Amino acid sequence: MRSVTMKDIYQHSITQKYVRRSGMAHAISVAFHAYELALSYKVNPDWAAKAGFLHDIGHYQWFRNGEWDYQLYRAYDIHPIKGAERAHKLLVRLGEDKQAAKEIAHAILFHTESALPEGNVQLNDLQRVIHLADEKDKQPGDSHHYRHMDKQKELQLIELIDEKIDHSLTAGMNV
Ligand SMILES: [Fe+2]
Ligand SMILES: [Fe+2]
Repeated sequence: MRSVTMKDIYQHSITQKYVRRSGMAHAISVAFHAYELALSYKVNPDWAAKAGFLHDIGHYQWFRNGEWDYQLYRAYDIHPIKGAERAHKLLVRLGEDKQAAKEIAHAILFHTESALPEGNVQLNDLQRVIHLADEKDKQPGDSHHYRHMDKQKELQLIELIDEKIDHSLTAGMNV
């Protein structure tokens, strides 16, 4: 039994505030890609879905008057660092397992190169899954951040991914 569900995370006010700013549809879509990839990479699908869903929770400073400020974003972006910390705090507050919260936070930290030093950084499988899941959903001109989905559909998909995760964990497909 998981101590924190995707629905618990989705409904939290911190998620509604920060994940919605960088795109709820993108977050949900990356959660699904991460879940599917987790099954092939044999990583925990619960951790993958949560990290995928929360990977862009660190965005906020570059959002001005309802639009992303691309110049500021590209020049000074540290959203993976802010996101890792923000997601970790949220998960722990919700009662998440401490090891899970740490692994998810690390996967968020490494989901994109923008906050990493130059050179080859060796990603573990969960971190690779989150990076690939994000790449899969990216669209030209960063339009993946603006895709709209109605809230009823969002909730349906969150409930669906919770069912899928529970099913996978019960079937012993996680490691
Ligand atoms: Fe990102
Ligand atoms: Fe993203």
